Amino acid sequence: MTDVAQRIAELRNELDAHNYRYYVLDEPSVPDAEYDRLFRELQALEAEHPELVTPESPTQRVGGEALSAFGEVRHEVPMLSLGNAFEEDDLRAFDRSVQHGLGVSGGDLFGGGAEIEYSCEPKLDGLAVSLRYENGQLVRGATRGDGSTGEDITSNVRTIRNVPLKLQGKGWPQVLEVRGEVFMPKSGFEELNARQAESGGKTFANPRNAAAGSLRQLDPKITASRPLEFCCYGVGQVSGELPGTQVAMLQQLKAWGVPISRELKLAKGVEACLDYYRDIGQRRMSLAYDIDGVVFKVNNIEDQQQLGFRARTPHWAIAHKFPAQEELTELLDVEFQVGRTGAVTPVARLNPVKVAGVMVANATLHNMDEVARLGVMIGDTVIIRRAGDVIPQVMAVVPERRPRNARPVHIPEQCPVCGSAVERTQLVKRSKGKESVSEGSVYRCVGRLSCQAQLKQAIIHFVSRRAMDIEGLGDKTIEQLVDEKLIGSPADLYKLSFEQIIGLEGFAEVSSNKLLAAIENSKRPSLARFIYALGIPDVGEETAKVLARSLASLARVRQALPEVLTYLPDIGLEVAHEIHSFFEDAHNQQVISALLGECGLELQDEGELSAEFSAVATLGGMLDKLNIPTVGPGAAQKLAERFGSLEGVLNADWLDMRQALPERQAKAVREFFDQAANAQRARAIEQQLREFGMHWQSEKKVAEGLPLAGQTWVLTGTLEVMSRDVAKEKLESLGAKVAGSVSAKTHCVVAGPGAGSKLAKAGELGVKVLDEAQFLDQLKAYGIEA
Ligand code: IVH
Repeated sequence: MTDVAQRIAELRNELDAHNYRYYVLDEPSVPDAEYDRLFRELQALEAEHPELVTPESPTQRVGGEALSAFGEVRHEVPMLSLGNAFEEDDLRAFDRSVQHGLGVSGGDLFGGGAEIEYSCEPKLDGLAVSLRYENGQLVRGATRGDGSTGEDITSNVRTIRNVPLKLQGKGWPQVLEVRGEVFMPKSGFEELNARQAESGGKTFANPRNAAAGSLRQLDPKITASRPLEFCCYGVGQVSGELPGTQVAMLQQLKAWGVPISRELKLAKGVEACLDYYRDIGQRRMSLAYDIDGVVFKVNNIEDQQQLGFRARTPHWAIAHKFPAQEELTELLDVEFQVGRTGAVTPVARLNPVKVAGVMVANATLHNMDEVARLGVMIGDTVIIRRAGDVIPQVMAVVPERRPRNARPVHIPEQCPVCGSAVERTQLVKRSKGKESVSEGSVYRCVGRLSCQAQLKQAIIHFVSRRAMDIEGLGDKTIEQLVDEKLIGSPADLYKLSFEQIIGLEGFAEVSSNKLLAAIENSKRPSLARFIYALGIPDVGEETAKVLARSLASLARVRQALPEVLTYLPDIGLEVAHEIHSFFEDAHNQQVISALLGECGLELQDEGELSAEFSAVATLGGMLDKLNIPTVGPGAAQKLAERFGSLEGVLNADWLDMRQALPERQAKAVREFFDQAANAQRARAIEQQLREFGMHWQSEKKVAEGLPLAGQTWVLTGTLEVMSRDVAKEKLESLGAKVAGSVSAKTHCVVAGPGAGSKLAKAGELGVKVLDEAQFLDQLKAYGIEA
């Protein structure tokens, strides 16, 4: 063997070993960067020596051209399906029939004979596939088809990252067919659907459909871009001997590099099986993938053979199903609910059905864009999904069942509660120095607190634990207070008398006094809590904290111009406009003045503007925020460097201006500031920044000062210790940009569990990847604690 061939072999072995530890053992052995380095070295060597490329090389997952049709594959050993148990008694009956079949029933009067050993596995909700290995190499992948003949999907299964192209170790039979399920993890499904929706592509009703649609692609490149995984649960044709029990056999396959379920367990006796069923059932929601039950198999393979089959289902295995999470029902009507911020949202009224054990009569439709995406009409038969405690959702329409008299869904022109106008929200976006306004997906009742629905929700929010934290004021009481016109705004809470409270349903002397004390005790909130309690649209707890921490006084928050707000971490122009217009609203001003005046609220921890904030303002940044046509961040910076102050820019003569910028942009700047309103606005922003205690930094100093300046980071998957929003804010405070997609320019990807395509892309591009723990360590190194 030449040196090159030797090195290629070494690299492949090493990469396979890392893959095995990563995908099968779930114990990565090297940092991703090291893996990527090896991978790129192999790619480079193979590019120089194409004659040394082999199909099982880790670089060769995505190959092959798009097909015009799939070929057929005959299964030598048929691919079976399973009988179902729905109730515990079905499983007990199955166990008795196994005992009977094996001649061990005898037992006592109560039917308790010998305890059979069963292997227990989750029943993954995906598609069955058969992977054929010859001499340890993956030679073919096939779908189940009708059980005897399936489709040849070799090029597609090769793109699934945890399918070994080559078996590890030694001792595998010459022919080994591995059977299992191809599925899409929940997080990958969410990401895929989001990507599809963004690009105007087809979205999928559930992870199973997405997996099916992704696997049956004639172009393997599409399959490669989908976050599929494989999990083995058995074997087909095998040329030699395998261990004599189901569990030992799967463990042997795992040693050869084949991924098996982490939940595989051995249970002795039917009661232990039921314990397993209940345990997995409880954890169903927190698993990374959808399951529709668990599968029990007689563990001993000889016993399996003795028990045999009936038609297409074995006597030695059974699927114990969980209650279905999806059901079909009729959409009777769509009604509109008004939320705290006035959002008017469509709610589906359904012909009641039992989904996952609970009667469902209503389901959310989110917004009118979702109604359009689903293409749903009143009268349609729809698929309803209820997963755990999640609100039931309409997943899809069954178009074949649309009745003739189906009616389209229209947003009402008037608020169904107060009759005020309903308006579509506007989205303010900017790109390339231009601000553009487009239609949002939310419709809003403009009635604000004069709308009883909004008032009730606003007060429920105001008193909630994370806001003003007033205990003893339940939703029902608030409804009564509003309905009886005892309160018309949050401020009125502080004017309630003992007599008024005791007159409410469910209140007696002690509880009334308690409530009065709770109201009194809420009068010294932190600034952040108070801002959050106001219920400004789009301002959640985190944003409220950012506002409080950065501006450090309510007066500044109230005055802040949208452009100034966008200097704060994580506040975009859209949210900035929401905040600004909230405080401009006369009624809101009145309520806030009343709260801080006659109601006697005293905000805590107001103070000086934070240093963090006073250091972020640059003249270039400010000029950029003015959205001068054709002037982007680069040109804005040039102006700043040339003129040093806003007045300098405003007073610049044409020649000077032309030295800073090309003619077209110079002209645009001129024309922009020739309009008095624009100049005035720029001065107002500058003045506000000054009043807030900000001083221009030189552009360089800001960039140099922050440790991650100039870097772009991407966050993906679920972060457990820190929400993605918080992680983003922390990164931004260190000077990094946080982007939504991975490209060659990405400096680093932080990937939590369930990371899908972005992580894969990072791998392809050789971008550095950190897990959450490593990320937190890194933040710590910069002095930021989680
Ligand atoms: S065993 C004879 N085990 O369920 C054994 N199947 O209705 C046949 N499935 O087509 C299959 N998880 O797609 C088995 N742990 C598991 C499974 C499983 C999911 C699917 C598989 C099969 C269907 C049977």
